[in-house]
Amino acid sequence: MRVLGIETSCDETAVAVVDGGRTIRSNVIASQVDLHRRFGGVVPELAARKHMERLFPVLDEALEQAGTSLGAIDAVAVTQGPGLVGALTVGVAAAKSIALSLGLPLVGVNHLEGHIYANFLVHAEIEFPALALIVSGAHTDLVAMPDHGVYRVLGRTRDDAAGEAFDKIARAMGLGYPGGPEIDRLSRRGDPHAVLLPLPMANASWDFSFSGLKTAALRALRGHEGDQSYLAALAAGVQRVVVEVLVQKTMRAAEVVGPKSVLLAGGVAANTRLRAEMDSAAHARGCRLLMPPPVLCTDNAAMIAAAGFYRLRRGQQATLALAASSDLPLE
Ligand code: KG4
Ligand code: ZN
Repeated sequence: MRVLGIETSCDETAVAVVDGGRTIRSNVIASQVDLHRRFGGVVPELAARKHMERLFPVLDEALEQAGTSLGAIDAVAVTQGPGLVGALTVGVAAAKSIALSLGLPLVGVNHLEGHIYANFLVHAEIEFPALALIVSGAHTDLVAMPDHGVYRVLGRTRDDAAGEAFDKIARAMGLGYPGGPEIDRLSRRGDPHAVLLPLPMANASWDFSFSGLKTAALRALRGHEGDQSYLAALAAGVQRVVVEVLVQKTMRAAEVVGPKSVLLAGGVAANTRLRAEMDSAAHARGCRLLMPPPVLCTDNAAMIAAAGFYRLRRGQQATLALAASSDLPLE
């Protein structure tokens, strides 16, 4: 089954063609970071307008790169939410018109589910039960997944998401946007133990909280602005404590869930230290850790097509009443 995936939940206009839920024929991503950079964050109204302008050119490019045409597509999968509702609506409206005009099945995909399914694009045999850590700019969710399409949220952030914490701290440090990759890069030059920072919410709960770390980092920054070696140490320190708490809680949940696979997902899963530390912690406990390559960690439409494929296989087709939702629960 050849699925056309469409993703417009935030600031990436993305279209992909995926065969059988696994074979990526094309995965085109038009990033809007240059547009939003000067505002230090995504401006929802501008994002929606840009999606409107770019979606069909991106679609053309995705079809061309896949060496296919709309006539050879079997189904259309689109991100329904969560995300910016105006931005999502552009993708949902486009997906509906394509499905309606070609008489194709339509499927709405949860963006977080999409992040999880990025793993299914690259790893052949993912065994259940699985435990997924979704870490993105908007979410930090620890999810038990007994089977395809079944989700039990064990813990989530009570305030800022991990990526949001990186972005806000990076912004205060005068680094580029988005901040996560900048912190990752700068950390390589700093001693992660040089600046004293609290381990965020290092208690038994499976919930996360990163706003206290943000406050501590901003306080630590005072008087050191522009000091390059201090900034590198601060970045490395922030990255160390965020990664430590993510790894600790995931491994604690793994002891209870007993997963056959641990899945890392979302933009922050591209983080070098998180990938390395989670890998060694999982290895030490005999868990199988799977993660997508960095390009499939951040927002893309191939992951939406993959998740859509499995939804269609379960008969979960959407009607033309499908509507974008800013806070769609994972279910
Ligand atoms: O999944 P994603 O592309 O969009 C959302 O669904 O939010 O995630 C974007 C987030 C941003 O906060 C960005 O700073 C973070 O992922 N990110 C990283 C890295 N690459 C992207 N954070 C830490 N290290 C990275 N290498
Ligand atoms: Zn995302």
